[in-house]
Amino acid sequence: MPKVHVFDHPLIQHKLTHIRDVNTGTKEFRELVDEVATLMAYEITRELPLMEVEVETPVKKANSKVLAGKKLGIIPILRAGIGMVDGILNLIPAARVGHIGLYRDPATLQPVEYYVKLPSDVSERELILVDPMLATGGSAIEAVNSLKKRGAKNIRFMCLIAAPEGVQAMTEAHPDVDIYIAALDEKLDEKGYIVPGLGDAGDRLFGTK
Ligand code: URA
Repeated sequence: MPKVHVFDHPLIQHKLTHIRDVNTGTKEFRELVDEVATLMAYEITRELPLMEVEVETPVKKANSKVLAGKKLGIIPILRAGIGMVDGILNLIPAARVGHIGLYRDPATLQPVEYYVKLPSDVSERELILVDPMLATGGSAIEAVNSLKKRGAKNIRFMCLIAAPEGVQAMTEAHPDVDIYIAALDEKLDEKGYIVPGLGDAGDRLFGTK
């Protein structure tokens, strides 16, 4: 079964409260999402493998550790996922970034892929798929389908806020994808917004309405 990890670090929770606040303007919202993405990246990279190397300090030669060179990829779901990319790159600057664009077909209400650009070695990379909100799960499920169709084998999903409905749908559709969240909220409303949530993440990030 996939694991659902809730990052309850005090700094993440504190910043998330300000992100939720309707009085937080676009500039501050964007900065806070960036900071929380960095903090979440710190948590999500805890288990990256290390290898021993020799380093010469000003005092003597010593054995020390560096990352074992695991290749990572960050895949934002357009458009709100973009708001989390730089925060992750702050910690993992060598990661490659792919993009997946989806829209909801007005007739079927199903997500439809309109743009996909991924690193060519996507099948060898450990991927972090990002979107600030896991609401119905439709976009995240389709994005994982899209990645798997192109050879991805190792995928994790990271978001700020999830609804129980989205977590359930995602874990049923992709039991091999672990989910990393900052908060699990109450429910979805009739328009598909997460309650209490933060409103429309894309609009709040980009100042659109
Ligand atoms: N997408 C958002 O941006 N907000 C929600 O509450 C649900 C989906």
